[in-house]
Amino acid sequence: MTATTDTQPEDLRNRMVDRIDAAGYLRSASVERALRTVPRHLFVPNASIEDAYADKSITTKPGGPGGRPASCASVPTVVAMMLGQLDARPGDRVLEIGAGTGYNAALLAELVGETGQVTTIDIHPDVTEQARRALEATGYGRVRVLTGDGALGAPDQALFDHIIVTVGPWDLPPGWRDQLAPGGRLVVPLHWRGQARSVAFVHQDGVLRATDSQLCGFIPMIGDGQDGERTGQIADDVALYFDRDQPIDPAALHGILAQPATTVWSGASVVPNESTDLIWPRLTGAEPGTCRFAAEPAAAEAGLCNPAFTYRSPALVDGDSLAYLTLRGPDPDATERRWELGAIGHGPAGTRLAERLCEQIRAWDRDRTAQPTITAYPAGTPDEDLADGVVIDKQFIRLVVSN
Ligand SMILES: C[S@@+](CC[C@H](N)C(=O)[O-])C[C@H]1O[C@@H](n2cnc3c(N)ncnc32)[C@H](O)[C@@H]1O
Repeated sequence: MTATTDTQPEDLRNRMVDRIDAAGYLRSASVERALRTVPRHLFVPNASIEDAYADKSITTKPGGPGGRPASCASVPTVVAMMLGQLDARPGDRVLEIGAGTGYNAALLAELVGETGQVTTIDIHPDVTEQARRALEATGYGRVRVLTGDGALGAPDQALFDHIIVTVGPWDLPPGWRDQLAPGGRLVVPLHWRGQARSVAFVHQDGVLRATDSQLCGFIPMIGDGQDGERTGQIADDVALYFDRDQPIDPAALHGILAQPATTVWSGASVVPNESTDLIWPRLTGAEPGTCRFAAEPAAAEAGLCNPAFTYRSPALVDGDSLAYLTLRGPDPDATERRWELGAIGHGPAGTRLAERLCEQIRAWDRDRTAQPTITAYPAGTPDEDLADGVVIDKQFIRLVVSN
């Protein structure tokens, strides 16, 4: 019996790339060529060949923070999307933080070619040992694999034309900016106000200016300065996630969901699978109290809350009041299946907060592709030198977001 072509790695790989393309995540011919070339299955030897080319992450080392993996191969669409943001070219010098399996480093080696240089760092020695072995076995032994805290970068190899971070940091350590050439690009899945987005920053005059941001999810970066996210329960199965610079006290909101609610509707609606993801970052550019409302399905089933997205809905908090994103629909009599976006408010200022959330939904609705302006200044930059916008103070940066 002859093997069907369906299970050949090359065919599965090409189908994976076709799916990524159909989903709109392929921005350049060079990234496409790299994805069609690098044998992903050889970087995840314990996964089946089908899983290696499915659009999912593959855990390679369990036991990370919060029950998440300590290491994994990232979802291929996210890998493709971030490489598109990075725009690495032949001859470039690239640093990757989060070597993991070595797969992305091999893609980077394809993109920069023999004249370029790729350095990748991981904090776990067993992970770097495995990545080094896989890179050598697949012909990418020229990638430099270092063990250490990626927050420090690789000062001995700097300057870099690009830095790509494939683990989720809360902050941007100064070494990344300092080791990036002027005009160089940093692509990083940054966490702020309860959300994570892959932000493409360009280094200009000591400041990082975003040119693009895309929804993503990553395992949290471990190490100094990365524990700035706070969380607290406001009911048995409902928590808020926010940043340490926000005066949010979950204890002051405990039990608020059992109090009377006001629902405000925005008039903006979406069809199935239509993205609403830019509402959240735009909200962070208008409302200092933006955070994440995270419910277990049990809380929604019990009628305690009705968030638009159970585990991840944007919310606004002001003192002892709260509003969060909700949805209604579809109308059974309508010809098109649409869901209207709105907000549910609780507490003394709940109605006003729900109205403010709806104002931002309407602003998003007027131009659904508009990205907020995001700039990262070094910590200590005086207020008068910052652009206008909401200031998010972290340990190493002052992030300014505006619409
Ligand atoms: C999602 S995986 C990276 C996937 C990888 N790029 C690939 O192609 O397989 C994230 C990696 O970041 C690493 N990591 C976490 N904190 C780190 C830190 N402070 N410095 C360097 N690596 C870190 C983890 O050990 C893990 O291997």
